[in-house]
Amino acid sequence: MDVTLRPVPESEYDAFFAHFPAYHAELDAYDPRREPYDIQRGIEAILDDMDGRELLWIEADGRRSGFVMVRLDSDWPDIERTIASIAEFYVFPDARRSGIGTAAVEALLAQHRARGTYLVEASILRDNGPAKEFWARLGFEVHLFQTARRP
Ligand SMILES: CC(C)(COP(=O)(O)OP(=O)(O)OC[C@H]1O[C@@H](n2cnc3c(N)ncnc32)[C@H](O)[C@@H]1OP(=O)(O)O)[C@@H](O)C(=O)NCCC(=O)NCCS
Repeated sequence: MDVTLRPVPESEYDAFFAHFPAYHAELDAYDPRREPYDIQRGIEAILDDMDGRELLWIEADGRRSGFVMVRLDSDWPDIERTIASIAEFYVFPDARRSGIGTAAVEALLAQHRARGTYLVEASILRDNGPAKEFWARLGFEVHLFQTARRP
């Protein structure tokens, strides 16, 4: 199977964000805060702050099969280094467990090797067992636990 990443042109932003309700409904189930993600506010906040963001379609044999949203930042204080954070990653339910997610991450890693990116990160909600397994299989190691509480 040929899995490629294609930049999402602005003319396809509506189609891109149309997947957010299903994506966030799935992630909300893993969120220990159990506060549903406010999709409309989330989309507006993304569009207001596009600096360093890259939106990509995952295509498998030319068929749209998921999406990735990456954010590029400097590795403070080593600001000459770039860190690519995978902010959102979604394989459509009917395309799962056939290696598309793995191939998409491998394509992303190859792209960032070529660009000289220092580190590629992915955040996972604590209870998202499938994602933990998925990223671990791809060689991603846990290097931080983020803790939080209400003040
Ligand atoms: C997690 C996700 C991206 C996996 O995509 P995928 O295309 O199905 O992944 P692959 O087919 O490449 O799976 C690779 C390996 O990951 C692990 N994996 C994938 N889905 C899994 C699941 N539901 N349960 C347990 N392990 C899983 C397995 O080890 C799998 O290998 P195997 O199929 O040989 O057992 C997809 O299920 C998804 O989009 N989930 C909802 C959104 C999400 O959680 N995104 C990640 C946010 S950090």
